[in-house]
Amino acid sequence: MKQIIVLISLLISVSWATSSPIQEDFLQCMLTQFRAYTRSFEIIFPPSSPLYPYLLQSTIQNPRWLNATTLKPLLIVTPFHESEVQAAILCSRKQDLQIRVRSGGHDYEGLSYLCQAPFIIIDLINMRSIEVNIEEETAWIQSGATLGELYYAIAKKSLVHGFPAGLCPTVGIGGHLSGGGFGTLVRKYGLAADNILDAYLVDVDGRVVDRKAMGEELFWAIRGGGGGNFGVVLSWKIKLVRVPENVTVFTVPRRVEQGASELVHRWQYIASELHEDLFIRIIILGVGEKSSGGKRIDQASFNSLFLGEIDRLIPLMNRSFPELGLKAEDCTEMSWVESTIYFAGFPKGSPLEVLLDKKQLYKSNFKAKSDFVTKPIPKNAIEGIWKMFQEEEEVAIMIMDPFGGKMNEISESEVPFPHRKGNLYNIQYMVKWDKDGMETSNRSVNRITSLYRYMTPFVSKSPRAAYVNYRDLDLGTNKKDKTTTYMEAAAWGVKYFKGNFKRLAQVKSKVDPENFFRNEQSIPLLPTP
Ligand code: FDA
Repeated sequence: MKQIIVLISLLISVSWATSSPIQEDFLQCMLTQFRAYTRSFEIIFPPSSPLYPYLLQSTIQNPRWLNATTLKPLLIVTPFHESEVQAAILCSRKQDLQIRVRSGGHDYEGLSYLCQAPFIIIDLINMRSIEVNIEEETAWIQSGATLGELYYAIAKKSLVHGFPAGLCPTVGIGGHLSGGGFGTLVRKYGLAADNILDAYLVDVDGRVVDRKAMGEELFWAIRGGGGGNFGVVLSWKIKLVRVPENVTVFTVPRRVEQGASELVHRWQYIASELHEDLFIRIIILGVGEKSSGGKRIDQASFNSLFLGEIDRLIPLMNRSFPELGLKAEDCTEMSWVESTIYFAGFPKGSPLEVLLDKKQLYKSNFKAKSDFVTKPIPKNAIEGIWKMFQEEEEVAIMIMDPFGGKMNEISESEVPFPHRKGNLYNIQYMVKWDKDGMETSNRSVNRITSLYRYMTPFVSKSPRAAYVNYRDLDLGTNKKDKTTTYMEAAAWGVKYFKGNFKRLAQVKSKVDPENFFRNEQSIPLLPTP
């Protein structure tokens, strides 16, 4: 062990010896001015460091973005302590470097590790502690923790508490809570962002502020206004929610010839009206012959969590959705934390520890887009979706997540996520491909763009709304410099935030008037009067 440490230290000192002046100035700034001395060599990695390539790609979910043409960070900083985040922000400003903050690295467009100007990454991989307080029914979580680590930590203290956030355990807390965050508890408890009580953030001047010190406007903005806009959120205090000891899950697949179109059509009328204990989403899946080993798969899976036992679920389903023909043998009872493993797609019987696994289950090249639906889509339009799917040779997915319930009770302006009452469900369209190469990538992206175009008449309008956590740069981007105007950015901003976009720009203008925290879709400043 000792030899390995000596070797790594040697490699690190060699790598620093070959670093550029800008990197050395940054290190010097961290060392002297901000006294982050003790660990500087352990937390700052230049490209010449042997650990740099590993760190750069370690949490990336969409490998599509890391290729020979993308600009790489001058340094990766992996702080353990808030003082090191403060120092990294102040040193970047001093040297006119941009920063990208990364928690779980799942950004769809790679905004936590890509930049078109010289930049550093602040990667919160070492800031992942979680403190659960069951008496108070709260938890403090650092941004670098994952959803899986949070669900695991809650389960270690209580099997009748949970948290309403997303389904993929490797998603990072930092980006997820910053953009809203929804999963199987959305109909009962709303978004992750609806359940935040406090937060610590390092602002553009390097100050560490909590809710009281940052003020209610900034605290409002960070709960759904999108990551990378207002500062680096170090940690969040969340409200835990109660779940029954036993919940029920089921997944019922139906192929087109088994009446999938009729079922999807009917589901639209009931899914957002059901008892709020019942969440039934649909995953429409199309897999081309090449990816499925010879036989096309086209099916809709009805994938559900019920906050109760089978005895209560079956009569409820018979009353509200008899067309699905759900039987007790389709259902399994388990604890809520086990249901998080089920929805993550781990095999039955997997231990709780899989929630701590850092290996991303679904890592592959992908492109996604999103919509909100306010009126049921006609049946013939649903039939047309299958035809669109059949043109995709690789894997195409449409996930339809029902809203209603608690989501109807929260006002559009409570937090920046505005898609509340009146939205029946959210759609996420996704194409995935494993083969590298522009041809496959272009073909898949063209397919999803055609599907998105096809859906235009059937989804929300004025604006055609989108979910910021399903980041989509096709909606528009900021210019490379700081000259994007508020009106230009509204092209995409209003789709994500509707009437809250202006308020986000007001907060941004106040807390970051020089637009230091910026990226391709960051909140713009308001024009000065
Ligand atoms: P990442 O680290 O890439 O950050 C995303 C953005 O937030 C970047 O702009 C980044 O700079 C910024 N940011 C990160 N940490 C920050 C911090 N501490 N302070 C300030 N800004 C910060 N969503 C959902 O609602 N429900 C779901 O079930 C799922 N499921 C899902 C599965 C898979 C496989 C993927 C790839 C994604 C999802 N998502 C999702 C979407 C997910 O919520 C979204 O991509 C989050 O932004 C990811 O957060 P990370 O911290 O992992 O991303």
